[in-house]
Amino acid sequence: MLVVIKKNFEEMSAEAAKLIAKLIHHKPDCVLGFATGSTPLGTYKELIRMHKEEGLDFSKVTTFNLDEYVGLPPRHPQSYHYYMWENLFKHINVDKRHVHIPHGMADDVEDFCDWYEQKIEEVGGIDLQVLGIGANGHIAFNEPGSSLGSRTRIKTLDELTKRYNARFFENPEEVPKYAITMGVGTIMDAKHLLLLASGYEKSDAIQATVEGPITALYPATIVQMHRTATIICDEQAASKLSRKYSGYLS
Ligand code: F6R
Repeated sequence: MLVVIKKNFEEMSAEAAKLIAKLIHHKPDCVLGFATGSTPLGTYKELIRMHKEEGLDFSKVTTFNLDEYVGLPPRHPQSYHYYMWENLFKHINVDKRHVHIPHGMADDVEDFCDWYEQKIEEVGGIDLQVLGIGANGHIAFNEPGSSLGSRTRIKTLDELTKRYNARFFENPEEVPKYAITMGVGTIMDAKHLLLLASGYEKSDAIQATVEGPITALYPATIVQMHRTATIICDEQAASKLSRKYSGYLS
């Protein structure tokens, strides 16, 4: 696992975008896994800049998103569909037929989850998966206690996650209770993991992920077992790492 510590959010985002762009140059038809939330916003902004100013070409790229709230239609401003189109897809030349985001309104959620897993397999797996991390150690919506071998499925949101995500909703009561999420096992199958974290509120989660014991109570800790995982975080998020000046790349 490579831990890269950058000064701040902007530098973290630029470094992450550089890594994604390098993969697209090397493999124009690569498969990218995307996350939502506040953390990757700077990375997406930089990818948009690279597309507009440097011609970074997404036309052959396939994408899969980690998760989506159950019960929110794609046009709902708080849905992850809406987030992805607003914050990335509508600004780049991705082919919409190559975009995959879990369907929060699926009639048969179990069927949908099986289809999603199959689809990822059909395209040869995810080359690079972008991840954020919850303060409670979740990745995607794999909340504490999630099976480390889990696949795409419906999950109940943790109370802490609901409170944290309430900032995007007018009324905290509107935060959905369930989400469709790639499983921990699905995420671990990606060829490269790119986990991003910014801010002091993520420092405990980063410390546990990098230095703590592997436990389902902190699903992100499984990243230690991945062959090619890169964590890019800023100094605040890295502030509780005990060996940051000797063992990690800054
Ligand atoms: C979102 C996702 C979540 C977030 C995490 C951090 O698709 O998978 O796991 O990455 O909740 O959210 P932010 O970046 O808003 O702190």
